[in-house]
Amino acid sequence: MPTAMDKNKKRPLRIKIISMGNAEAGKSCVIKRFCEKRFVHKYLATIGIDYGVTRVTIKDRDVKVNIFDMAGHPIFYEVRNEFYKDTQGAIIVYDISDRSSFEALDSWIQEMQNETGNQTDVDNVVVCVCGNKTDKKRSVDELEGRLWSETKGFLFFETSAQTGDGVAEMFQALFDAVVVAAENGGKKAPIQTQLGYSKEQADAIQKLKSAKSDYERLGLIPGATKEDVNRAYRKLAVLLHPDKSVAPGSEEAFKLLVASRTALLKRC
Ligand code: GTP
Ligand code: MG
Repeated sequence: MPTAMDKNKKRPLRIKIISMGNAEAGKSCVIKRFCEKRFVHKYLATIGIDYGVTRVTIKDRDVKVNIFDMAGHPIFYEVRNEFYKDTQGAIIVYDISDRSSFEALDSWIQEMQNETGNQTDVDNVVVCVCGNKTDKKRSVDELEGRLWSETKGFLFFETSAQTGDGVAEMFQALFDAVVVAAENGGKKAPIQTQLGYSKEQADAIQKLKSAKSDYERLGLIPGATKEDVNRAYRKLAVLLHPDKSVAPGSEEAFKLLVASRTALLKRC
């Protein structure tokens, strides 16, 4: 006979997770570290797909996690494209010591979008970006990885499958978010970002710093009127005022903005 405790227990949940990212980024090793608590030095390329199951308890609920570990090599595209459908969570792995694996992240998101088709389905996949191999010399900053991820609404973690750093935390956050989404009719909750600033702010700073003229700094062309200058200034000032923006470089960018505005107003 079921006890009161059994009755309160929620039904077990089945979830589907996939791994994505360039070959050799460490997808299989990160998964192995979590599921088997071990690390394999030798590179054994995944052929097509590896499938595994692990069981975890999330918020008092038994969860059966089906993990589809994809091969990153382009030759396996025809095999892995079948597996994007019905995915609730995805880890997208890059190697922090290999910039090209970071630069490939957009194309992996694109592949997922192409294969799942329906935009709502894609928007509700909990994506967790994993900057792996933190035990190696980095060529991608932590902030850069976080900015790319969090401005897109993706979770972000750095890990080392070799030492185990960050791996359990990453999977815990991913599973938590997938369970929350499953309990909310498949709709994922917004992530808590740690950046404190937006990609729009970061891009505006970059643009102001790299611009070669006062006009370019305000996004204007010669012949702009006083009103054009002030409108462009206000738009950027709202974004970059050091009281409002904690993005690195805000203060310097704001000074450039003010100087360009003053110079342009003299020419109008
Ligand atoms: P494909 O299956 O071909 O798509 O590659 P993958 O992304 O699954 O890479 P895999 O996990 O097989 O790891 C590739 C190589 O990187 C192996 O030689 C691993 O030992 C090594 N590796 C993985 N994670 C780490 C890490 O955190 N640190 C270091 N130093 N090496 C790692
Ligand atoms: Mg693999």
